[in-house]
Formats: sequence, structure tokens, C-alpha cells
Amino acid sequence: MIRKLIIAAVLVPAVWFGTAAMHFPPIFQKMFVGYVLLGLTVFLLLDAPPLPAFTGWKALVVLIGFYAVLSAIYIGGASFLPQYDPTVEKGKIDKIVKPKMETPDARKAKLEEMVKKSEELQAKTATLLAGLEKLAPSVPEGGKPGGGAQAVSAGSGDMIARGMEVYDLHECYNCHKIGGKGSVKKRGPILDNIGNLLTQDDIKKKIFDPTYLYADGFEKEHKKGLMPDKYKELMSDEEVSALAAYLATLKNQAVETPKPVFVKSRVDHGFIVYGYVRDKAGKPIPDLPILAKPLKEGRESHEGKTNKEGYYEIFLHIHNEDSGTKIVVSAKDAKKEITATYNPEDKVTKRQAAVDLVL
Ligand code: HEC
Repeated sequence: MIRKLIIAAVLVPAVWFGTAAMHFPPIFQKMFVGYVLLGLTVFLLLDAPPLPAFTGWKALVVLIGFYAVLSAIYIGGASFLPQYDPTVEKGKIDKIVKPKMETPDARKAKLEEMVKKSEELQAKTATLLAGLEKLAPSVPEGGKPGGGAQAVSAGSGDMIARGMEVYDLHECYNCHKIGGKGSVKKRGPILDNIGNLLTQDDIKKKIFDPTYLYADGFEKEHKKGLMPDKYKELMSDEEVSALAAYLATLKNQAVETPKPVFVKSRVDHGFIVYGYVRDKAGKPIPDLPILAKPLKEGRESHEGKTNKEGYYEIFLHIHNEDSGTKIVVSAKDAKKEITATYNPEDKVTKRQAAVDLVL
């Protein structure tokens, strides 16, 4: 009996730590240890002195009693374990799945309603225009005040209403503010004056490719990729055009919408040098003019400026055939020369080089 106890005393920790090393969940570890203990009990029982033999009806009572005790232990023990209520579990699953299931349907219904509305409006405009045409056939084509050179086409009112709907539908207001409404946490820029800063075309490009430009003062958010780049997949051309048309009408100069900074042009039309300028102690130097000069005839130099973090980015117009061109980057009396090498066939990888300067 002592020997059996010793074996169990060795086995229990061995099984416990062995299963832990194999990354079994704790409940399994406990189960394995339980089996060891069960085995121990069985072996100990084998050592027990034999009971007197039962015969006749006594044997029957003892047998039934034995099963009754065993069943009581099992049922009683099991009721201590966590119980699963299928209705509760179903409720939980529904909670997760339902919103996902409903959204596309709800969206579709919303969209259909919008399309209908816009069709109705279009019909109305057409009749109105026809009426106008009758009244004043010689009205010259003209833009709205403030509309600039852009001709305002017949459906533009609809288009702008539709753009507002797209703005709501895609929840741009989660991060942007227009007319004082929207994002409370200032995740993204206020857009009230965006029409004075970006063309419709640039707005479209920004929505479909957020890396296309960034709002001044939002470099960090831009680097983190805060503005989602999912709209290209989610929006139709019609939607993005309407949205851009709407945003381009926002020209409230009283509100400070940050200037756009263009970072991306077509890959094969440029090369970006970027980096940090710091002093010898490693402190960033802000607001420092910095010049990037390609050492090739006919290729223009460009100037940039470091931001608060001492970071700068300069876009140079050098083309496919210019691979191998040397570029001198300089600020004050610090200077570095690099060679812009890239594969002219590769139209995807960004062409750029990091150049850090120490003053
Ligand atoms: C999760 C937040 C978020 C959402 C949602 C979002 N944006 Fe942005 N957006 C930003 C941030 C942050 C910036 C500034 C950094 C940058 O330009 O990348 C920005 C910048 C912009 C700019 C440039 C503003 C400027 O002053 O140059 C435009 C335009 C814009 N967003 C339009 C939209 C539109 C339209 C939608 C909806 C389809 C949208 N955004 C949805 C976060 C968001």
C-alpha cells in the first residue's frame, strides 16, 4: 500500500506539470490528475480485505444500493459543473450575428429608397427645366455664384443631396465634422472649407486611397492609417462622385480646414526623399528648410520643411529613365548624397529613400 501511495505521489505532480508543458487547458490537467487518483483508489481497493459474501435477496439489495450511491455521486457531482442553457447560448449568438445579418439588408433598403427619391427628384427637375426653357429660351449657360468655372449641370442639386446621403451612409461623421456636427473626439479634420482646398477629383482620390494626401497637422494619424482605406471596395463610382461633388461645395472660410499635403503621385513619376533632421544631441529640429537636388540636367530641385518632429518629405519629379540619378539633400551646412535606384519596370513599389541629417 505504501508503494502505491508513493507511485501516486510521484505521478500526480508529473502529470500536472507534464500536461502544463504540453499546454493543456487547466480543466484537462485536473481531469488527468483525477484519473491518477481514481487509479490509486482502485488499486487501494484491491488491497482491501474481502467482504463477506452476500447471497439471496441481500445480494440484490446491496447491488441496487451500490448503484444508487454511485448514481447519486455522479449526478450530484455533475450538478456542480457549469451548466449550459441552450436558450442563453442562442441569445448570445444572435446578439453577435444579427447586426451583421441585418446591416446589408437595411443598407439595401436604404439605398433603394434613396435611388427612388433621387429618381423622383430628377423627374421633377426635368419638368421644371422644361418649364424654364419655355419661359426663357435664351438664358445663357451660367454657373451658380461661387461655383467658379465649373458648369453646374442639370442634376447637380440631386447630386449634392445624394452626396450628403453617401456621407451619412458611410459614416464619415465618425471622424469628421461639418457644420459643427460629427466627431466629438476630433479624430479627423473639420471639412467645412474643404471645397476651397481640394478639387472634386482630389477628394475622390483621397477617399479611394487615403495615402494620396494628408491633412496638414494630421501626419501622425495619417501614418497610423486612421482614415479607413475600405471605401474603394464599398463605394460605387456614382457614390464617390456624388460625395466629392457635395464636399466640393463646402467653402466656409470661417472654419479652419487643414491644408492638404500631397504625398503620392504616380509611382513612375517621382521619387520621395524623407527623413529626420536632428541636432547632435538627437533633438529634432523643427521648421527647417531642406533642399533635395537631383544631379541631372533638367531635373528640378525641391524644397521641404521639417515638422515638429523634425520630419520632412520631399517629392522629386524624376522618371523611369532617371534610375541611378544622384540626389543631394542639404539643410544648413549638413549635406548627404544618395543614389536613386529603382527598377523602371516596377510601377508598384514606392520609390523613396530615407535620408537623416545631423546638424
Ligand atoms: C476613422 C476615422 C475616419 C473616417 C471614418 C473617415 N476619415 Fe477622412 N480623415 C481621417 C483623418 C485622421 C484624416 C487626416 C489624416 C489624413 O489625411 O490621412 C482624414 C482626412 C480626410 C480628408 C482630407 C482633409 C484635408 O483637410 O486635407 C478628406 C477630404 C476626408 N478625410 C474625407 C473623408 C470622407 C469623405 C470620409 C467618409 C467616406 C472619411 N473621410 C472617413 C479620418 C477618417
